[in-house]
Amino acid sequence: MSPRGCRNVRNARWQAWVPCGMLLRMMQVSGNVALPTANAGPKRGQFNAEVMSNIAICREHFILRLRVTHFPPSEPGQFVQVLCGPDVAIGVPEAAPAAAYSEVCWEPGSVPPAFHDAALLGPAPYLRRPFSIAGRRDNPASGYSEIDLIYRVIGKATGQMAALAVGDSISILGPLGHGFSLPREMTTALLVGGGVGIPPMIYLAEKLQRQRINALAFIGAQRADLIPLHITGAVGLEPALNVREFATFDTPTVIATDDGSLGQKGFVTRALQQFCQSKPQTGAVVFCCGPTPMMRATALVAAEFNLTCYASLEQPMACGMGTCQSCVIKYRPPGAEDWVYKLTCKDGPVFNTTDILWQ
Ligand SMILES: Cc1cc2nc3c(=O)[nH]c(=O)nc-3n(C[C@H](O)[C@H](O)[C@H](O)COP(=O)(O)OP(=O)(O)OC[C@H]3O[C@@H](n4cnc5c(N)ncnc54)[C@H](O)[C@@H]3O)c2cc1C
Ligand code: FES
Repeated sequence: MSPRGCRNVRNARWQAWVPCGMLLRMMQVSGNVALPTANAGPKRGQFNAEVMSNIAICREHFILRLRVTHFPPSEPGQFVQVLCGPDVAIGVPEAAPAAAYSEVCWEPGSVPPAFHDAALLGPAPYLRRPFSIAGRRDNPASGYSEIDLIYRVIGKATGQMAALAVGDSISILGPLGHGFSLPREMTTALLVGGGVGIPPMIYLAEKLQRQRINALAFIGAQRADLIPLHITGAVGLEPALNVREFATFDTPTVIATDDGSLGQKGFVTRALQQFCQSKPQTGAVVFCCGPTPMMRATALVAAEFNLTCYASLEQPMACGMGTCQSCVIKYRPPGAEDWVYKLTCKDGPVFNTTDILWQ
């Protein structure tokens, strides 16, 4: 019998003994599984997705097209949690061969070992990673949906995603969170996307076109080679249908780069501000996603012109479904005296920017 403090660890799947191990197992388990949902909440589930293509689109960015069966309805601004490593079913130790186990021991009262050993932890990123839905096409006859994710390779999980090949299977969890709602009185939508915040704006442009609402996109990046979009025409300072992903949905685009290598030189928020100064934007609503400083600046521009503004926050997340509390933000709706914590994954990721206490 193992001494106190010793545990079996199967391929370093140490979640069997960490607090919340049950939750973590659920986050990694494979197969199509419906997850419990609050009565009023949107439907969600866990799905095996087949890679249809995974193509480099610009420096460090890829577009991953997945085929999923019976994926629940989703809205722009919602996201999926991707298990980026190989598709491994876990949580059934009885069925695993003895060689798949190793013993980890420490004396009662001593400090448990730190699990920094790469071999012990295994090659796969332990937690799922969140990615906004960038586009979706449904085939009701077959029950298949194509889901687009656009991602930038910045670390372990996204590095492994870049190695996915056509036909590979990965596990996704979603659709998660609450997407953008479209105010009834809105006449024009001003979409502001920066860096990896651009993908949900493409999906939003598609919904706006379906609802016959005029839209204009402001796209920001550090440099021209970090814009994960297809530029199809000359880029000037005026809005133009020169970006394929947005032009497809009749959405003219303004591009701004920090170094001026394409479009307007400077931050995308400056481009938005200049546009709002050029003519009154009565009835316009701003939707934004990107780095926190960019969204905070967008909120200020919107306030300057008295425009409603919604932001889709990209707070680092662990579970993505309201359990781990790792994604809290400070929130204070208008009129309230005190702020409260909200969960970006479950209560958001979309919030009215006036309700957020930006930090
Ligand atoms: C709701 C939501 C939607 C997202 N949508 C997209 C998307 O459409 N496309 C896309 O490319 N990325 C998106 N992200 C960010 C994406 O989840 C991270 O890039 C990814 O988790 C990185 O995993 P990694 O293992 O490659 O990097 P890691 O090794 O985990 O991290 C590498 C470095 O990046 C930092 N980092 C990781 N995640 C974040 C974050 N969310 N904010 C700030 N810094 C971070 C880490 O602190 C670390 O320094 C989204 C995040 C959220 C919360
Ligand atoms: S990511 Fe776990 S509660 Fe939000």
